[in-house]
Amino acid sequence: MELFNVYPINNITITRAMGSRVWDDLETEYLDMYGGHAVISIGHQHPHWVNSIKQQLDKISFYSNSIKIPLQNVLAEKLGAVSGKKDFSLFLCNSGAEANENALKLASFHTGRKKIIAFKKSFHGRTSLAVAATDNPSIIAPVNETDNIIFLPFNDVEALTHCFGEEGNNIAAVIVEGIQGVGGIHIANNDFLQAIRKCCDEFGSIYIADSVQCGYGRSGLFFSHDYAGVNADIYTMAKGMGNGFPIGGIIISPKIQAKHFMLGTTFGGNHLACAAAIAVLEVIEEEQLIQHAKNIGDHLMNELKAIPEINNVRGLGLMIGFDVPDELKQLKSILLQEYKIFTGEAKPNVIRLLPSLALTMEDAEIFIASLKKAIAQLQS
Ligand SMILES: Cc1ncc(COP(=O)(O)O)c(C=O)c1O
Repeated sequence: MELFNVYPINNITITRAMGSRVWDDLETEYLDMYGGHAVISIGHQHPHWVNSIKQQLDKISFYSNSIKIPLQNVLAEKLGAVSGKKDFSLFLCNSGAEANENALKLASFHTGRKKIIAFKKSFHGRTSLAVAATDNPSIIAPVNETDNIIFLPFNDVEALTHCFGEEGNNIAAVIVEGIQGVGGIHIANNDFLQAIRKCCDEFGSIYIADSVQCGYGRSGLFFSHDYAGVNADIYTMAKGMGNGFPIGGIIISPKIQAKHFMLGTTFGGNHLACAAAIAVLEVIEEEQLIQHAKNIGDHLMNELKAIPEINNVRGLGLMIGFDVPDELKQLKSILLQEYKIFTGEAKPNVIRLLPSLALTMEDAEIFIASLKKAIAQLQS
């Protein structure tokens, strides 16, 4: 059987990893400034994470949500403490799309409404409502098309308030990334997020903070939405939550009441996934990785801003993007092929940096030095 060919892949086979390094089957070492698409939060194969999963594996890996799973309560307790959202409650699932799907569904159940506001350049996942709220017609199948999503320009307070003025009583939710990732690293302005909060309060709509990529400490705060100083009603999470072990979740404001069977999942919140996610939070706390991500991110951004050949350096913490002029469009591929550094991209000509939150200053320096050499090489 062949694999269904949906991914354009690099011709590299990674066989082992540690921290911010990965090695291929020929023992070539790479610096990972991409984190497998923002997934590696505490570093590849962190020993505490590996041991927690191994120990859990020897006890029980899975049972469904028909019995008590105290590890879920431990995870919820820790998540409340580390995120500061102690009075929220937790629903566990398996991926970012599933988290957003559940958040949108919950908002519709809670309000009894159908319309969702999403934004230009958004990405919320590939399942039915999540993809309908994603601003990329090429990944929306005919069956996903719906009139229930209203796309507005990002960071446009006037368009938002105008839309609420016209449609407010029909709006179930506003879904917004704190930093648009796939769209090319665009930060939601504080006044924009505050306006979303205000409109949602005025019209009884639900503010959904898609934190799948920008959450879990990556921005230098647990949720990048927190920079605006207002709470969302639901935060969706996945990528960094398990450091590569598949797990997603949503945390839900006390204003939304749970009812039996309104949400559900077979695999979500299983023993092994909880053990992985608890270990991630323990390491984040123990190694103070949120502050570390901010420090290293600030340093990287200052260094990047001093490189005249690249433009529009932006980001928060270790979620960073910059524009590459057309004459340097080979930069990402040269970095990988010749300097053995993984980076991410967004079209057109944006390089995205999404390394582990534990990236060392030394590795940040290696990246900057290699980037400068690669630029000089392309210009010569
Ligand atoms: C902001 C955001 N939301 C949702 C998703 C979907 O997550 P998953 O691929 O785990 O379904 C992604 C994935 O890139 C994302 O960046």
